[in-house]
Amino acid sequence: MTGRQRSRRGAALCLAFALLLALCGCGGKDNRTGDEPKEEPVKYADRYIDLHLHLDGAITTEIALKLAAKQNIELPTSDAAELTRLLTVPEDCESLNDFLECFDLPLSLMQTPEGLEEAVYLVAENIRSQGVVYAEIRFAPQLHTDRGMTQEDAINAALRGLKRTPLKANLILCCMRGEGNEAANYDTLELAKKYLVADGGVVAVDIAGAEALYPTENYRELFERAAEYGIPFTIHAGEADGAQSVRLAIEFGAKRIGHGVRIYEDPEVVKLVKEKGITLEMCPTSNRQTHAVEDMDKYPLIDYVKDGIRVTLNTDDMGIEGITLADEFRYMEQKFGLTAEQEQQLLANAIDAAFTTDEVKAELRKELGITR
Ligand code: ADE
Ligand code: ZN
Repeated sequence: MTGRQRSRRGAALCLAFALLLALCGCGGKDNRTGDEPKEEPVKYADRYIDLHLHLDGAITTEIALKLAAKQNIELPTSDAAELTRLLTVPEDCESLNDFLECFDLPLSLMQTPEGLEEAVYLVAENIRSQGVVYAEIRFAPQLHTDRGMTQEDAINAALRGLKRTPLKANLILCCMRGEGNEAANYDTLELAKKYLVADGGVVAVDIAGAEALYPTENYRELFERAAEYGIPFTIHAGEADGAQSVRLAIEFGAKRIGHGVRIYEDPEVVKLVKEKGITLEMCPTSNRQTHAVEDMDKYPLIDYVKDGIRVTLNTDDMGIEGITLADEFRYMEQKFGLTAEQEQQLLANAIDAAFTTDEVKAELRKELGITR
């Protein structure tokens, strides 16, 4: 074919294509007057805030391999697929108690200052690469003392890791539900008081662990002390135990509740949460895996949002659950039709409730285009 033949054939093809477009009304002349309202493309969230993320639950296979290599720790397997299986929650997980058994391996990789510092850094970088723009990473210093670190060493190591990441992030120190660790919990509280800052370090405390075995009532004095010290706190409640656990946490002075998913069991507690403007840190995949909610078709997140409850969407234990925060947003979109606007509301709620300064909150609102 000559050059001229080629260009003639090209022109004929263009003409045919233009005719086709005109016929199907999808091209050619634009008949709009310009007065029609412009349709905004639906913009689902692609940047996120995670207020409820456990460090030991966020150790992915990749991070575990890096931590093991850095510390010359021999992992139970050198096979990545097998390691993933060991790090993630088994299909037959029946309860929070089963779920909590998955933490031994990740914790074993964070028993030295180097390991813990690196873990905080790697987790922060991992979530940053997934679109998270602000996170509150929580960990229990008392779970990092097996190889000689003190709780204070653990906090300092975590702070060093935090300083190395450009992610806007803070630390929440967890006390633990359990037996025989009362002194350790009070030590955590004293250290929280010592290290407390408004942003860029330790900003709050929490209590994690087996809620059904060690009820919230057992920790009344602990949180009275936290309140006396002026330490902000959130409390895991209404996850493995019922709505009355949330009622107690609110009575202790918690402004945020870890999970709180089971408040629907008591309309009075729902009312209380609304009236007091309590923020729920909800974590759907975690709740499905621990059976906090038996029927995921009835998962109440959207109902709570519609009811004006300050809901936020978080991961809890992304490594163990095998998810990202983006996955959680897509999960709620697909399962319940969570709208782009509701997603903005969840993010706005997260900013309002974050344990940080008004300046950082203003930056986050700007970054996420939140005007409410
Ligand atoms: N520690 C890690 N994940 C937890 C959860 N979902 N509830 C209580 N403690 C935890
Ligand atoms: Zn949690």
